[in-house]
Amino acid sequence: MGKRTRLTEREEAFVRAQRVARLATADAEGHPTAVPVCYAYDGAQFYSPLDEKPKRIAARHLRRVRNIEARHEATLLIDRYDDDWSRLGYVLVEGRAEVIEPGAPEHARAVELLRVRYVQYRAMNLEEMPVIALSPERVVSWGPALDAPDESQEANASQNDQERQNIWLQPGRGVNFLPLARGRRSVRAFQQRPVPRRALEMMLAAAQWAPSPHGRQPWRFAVLTRNEPKHLLADAMGEEWKRTLAMDGQPEEIIQLRLEKSHERIRTAPAIVLVCLYLEDLDQYPDPDRQHAEEIMAIQSLGAAIQNLLLSAYALGLDCGWMCAPLFCPDTVRAALELDSSLIPHALITVGYAAREPKRRPRRPLDELIVRFD
Ligand SMILES: Cc1cc2nc3c(=O)[nH]c(=O)nc-3n(C[C@H](O)[C@H](O)[C@H](O)COP(=O)(O)O)c2cc1C
Repeated sequence: MGKRTRLTEREEAFVRAQRVARLATADAEGHPTAVPVCYAYDGAQFYSPLDEKPKRIAARHLRRVRNIEARHEATLLIDRYDDDWSRLGYVLVEGRAEVIEPGAPEHARAVELLRVRYVQYRAMNLEEMPVIALSPERVVSWGPALDAPDESQEANASQNDQERQNIWLQPGRGVNFLPLARGRRSVRAFQQRPVPRRALEMMLAAAQWAPSPHGRQPWRFAVLTRNEPKHLLADAMGEEWKRTLAMDGQPEEIIQLRLEKSHERIRTAPAIVLVCLYLEDLDQYPDPDRQHAEEIMAIQSLGAAIQNLLLSAYALGLDCGWMCAPLFCPDTVRAALELDSSLIPHALITVGYAAREPKRRPRRPLDELIVRFD
C-alpha cells in the first residue's frame, strides 16, 4: 500500500477533537526541535499560526520558522492521553511545511479556519502574522478509537455516496462542510469544564443567521449557565413528567430511573440553551389553513436555527444534546424560568465538552432518501 496523504474519517474526527499538537522541525544540520501548536485542518492541509502572543523574538525569527525556511520536512503529532487507555491515540503527519505570508489567499482561509476552532484568535491580529502550512506526505495513526471498525453504515456507503461526497473535498468558501455536518453527534454526557461565554455568543450569532419565514426570526433563546436555574428547571419538568409517565401506567421504578437520568442531564450540562418559538411577528391570515402553514414555517425555521447552533458549537470544539421535553410542558418551563407568555419553549440544547467519544448513529444510504433525482 502506498503512503497515505489523506486522513481517514476517524483520523479526521480525532484531529478535530484535539486542541493541541506538537510540531517538529529541524535546522539545516538536522538538529530537531518540537513545540506545542494550535492548528486547523481543512481536509487537505494543516495550518498553524504564528500568533501575536508576546514573544521574546519576532515571529519570523522563531526557530520553527528558520528551520522550515532551511528545510521543509516537518512532523505534526496530534495525540491524546487518557487514564482510560481505551481512549489513547495519535495521528502522526509527516510532510512538507511552508511559511505562508499575509496577503496570500491561502493565508486568509487558514486564519478563518483557525478562528473557527479557537475563539481566542477572533480577537488577535492574525492577518499580519505568517501561518505555517503542512501538506501531509505520510499519515499514520494508532489507538483503539482510531483502529476500531466503523460501526456506522457509512463504512458501507455505496460507491455512489462516496462519489457524491468527494465533491466536498474541494474547499469551497473556506469551509470544509461535510466533515462538520458528519462530525456533529448528539452528546448526552459532558465534562464539568465550563463553556466560555464568548463561545455561547458565537453559537447564538450563528443561529441568528438561519433562514426564517419573511426573515422574521421567530425564535428566542434563554441561556442557562448557573446551577440554580438549571435545578429549578429540572425539578419542575421532572414533576410534570412524573405525572404523565404515571398516566401512561409505567412502573414506579422505571419512572424513577427515567426521571433521574433526565434530571442529571439538565443538572450536569455546563450550559443550556432553551430555544423558544416566538410567533408574534408572523403574518396573520383570516383562514386557519394559511395560519397553520405560517406556524409550521416558523417551526421549520426554528429547526434551522438549532442546526446552526449545533454546527457552530461543533466547529468550536463543543458538543450538544437536543432534548424535546419542553415541548410537552411549555407552561411549566415558562413558569420555572419566569419567561414571557409569548415564548413557546421547544427544545433544550445542552452544551459542553463531551465526557467520552459519542456513538455515531448510522445513516441510511443516501439513495434510500432520494425518491427522485432527474
Ligand atoms: C426534534 C428533535 C428532538 C429530539 N429530542 C431528543 C430528546 O428528547 N432526547 C435525546 O436524547 N435526543 C433527542 N434528539 C436527538 C436525536 O435522538 C438524535 O439527533 C438522533 O438520534 C441522531 O443522532 P445524532 O444527533 O447523534 O446524529 C432530538 C432530535 C430532534 C431533531
